[in-house]
Amino acid sequence: MTAGSTHQDILDWTNASWERLGSSAGLRQRADEMAAKLAGEVAAGHLPFLATPFMGGLLEDLAELEAGFLKRFTHMLLLGIGGSALGARALQKAFAPGQDLPGHTGKSLWIMDNVDAAVLTAHLERLPADKTLVYVVSKSGDTIETIGQYFLVKAWLKAALPGTWKDHLLLNTDEKKGYLREEATAFGVRTLPVPDNLGGRYSAISAVGLVPAAFLGIDWRALVRGFMSVAAPLVDPKLDAAKLAAHPSFEFAVWGKALMDAGYLELITFFYIPAWSSFADWFAQLWAESLGKDGMGSQPIPAVGATDQHSVNQMFLDGPRNKACLFVERAQGPAGLPFPKDMPGIFDYLQGKRFGELLPAEALGTRMALCQSQVPLVCLRLGTDDAHAAGKMMALLGAATLLTGWLMGINPVDQPAVELGKRLAKARLGAGGLAEEKAALAGFTTGGRSERGF
Ligand code: PA5
Repeated sequence: MTAGSTHQDILDWTNASWERLGSSAGLRQRADEMAAKLAGEVAAGHLPFLATPFMGGLLEDLAELEAGFLKRFTHMLLLGIGGSALGARALQKAFAPGQDLPGHTGKSLWIMDNVDAAVLTAHLERLPADKTLVYVVSKSGDTIETIGQYFLVKAWLKAALPGTWKDHLLLNTDEKKGYLREEATAFGVRTLPVPDNLGGRYSAISAVGLVPAAFLGIDWRALVRGFMSVAAPLVDPKLDAAKLAAHPSFEFAVWGKALMDAGYLELITFFYIPAWSSFADWFAQLWAESLGKDGMGSQPIPAVGATDQHSVNQMFLDGPRNKACLFVERAQGPAGLPFPKDMPGIFDYLQGKRFGELLPAEALGTRMALCQSQVPLVCLRLGTDDAHAAGKMMALLGAATLLTGWLMGINPVDQPAVELGKRLAKARLGAGGLAEEKAALAGFTTGGRSERGF
């Protein structure tokens, strides 16, 4: 329960449909094996996202950045992609939504997680370089989408601010290796390290997501506290099978794997907290990139209520019966404006009500409809939709994803399949070597096409 809240954060398993998930009992029996694996991986330093050995130093760095350096800037231009961007965007949309509302005058965060030439040009034409901090986030330090932008943004800074451009850069990258690290060393640019073994999609509660949060004035301390409250029991040396079995991340992992075993190969994340809808995108990457391995996994489908009731919900309710749902709502949202007194007859049920009453009613309606359509559903109901609760949710879903992967027998922290596309793109751009990729590309783009105008 969060301070001042009368509501608890709840996982509601009432409609999880365990009776249809035959493998769940056997999976639960693997708590012993999973607890031992967790202890071993934590001890080996392989799970910094849960053990957060970097947190003490980072909290000091953040406090210092917040008190001084970050105050100098009105704009932050974040260059990063995938796990280097999605957590920051989710935090921004949830807790600093002002930029999307009329009349915004405060700080602005611009997240450049694509290689859209027009968008980059527009940003560089319109942003005031003297008030802009460029935050470059890349664990590897070599990601072409991020580094390609970095080259242009660095040139822009140098042209606009010849004497001070370095003071407008903050690089977050591997401590020792990668091109960005070389840049930092060569130019003496300010940096923050991405700790070893902290993969992008597991890194939101590190400098990757917390620096933008601090810039935007988000309560990053509460995020960290919330995160730690869920992660701490998992990295406790006294963890045993019983304790792991009692942890909600393990229950979620059992559910996630049992769903796959039973043929539920799509996992909807339906957020009925509109400002939190980017957490659905954050989770989609986490789940998909971690678990799509060896022909296994389940496809995450981000959705937001009430908007998606009028788009994809028909498919959820009456399409193939292969979907499960993580439904996220809050105990109480803002009351909103009262409806006017002169409501027309067919809407008189709104008389005396406030606008904020629509969303919970629609959430209940959709949740019940999904359950009646036999969609296995777990509801994450937050007492208060604040930063503390977000930290808790991120730890819960991060740990659950990891454990689901281990129950599947795959490695949930790598993403080997995405490398081929990257190599082919590099080959296309004429990078050295890559003879095999170049030959394959030639065959793919020229041989045996079937193309027609439309
Ligand atoms: O989760 C992941 O590991 C990936 O999505 C990465 O975050 C993404 O590929 C960007 O990598 P990097 O941070 O090395 O630039």
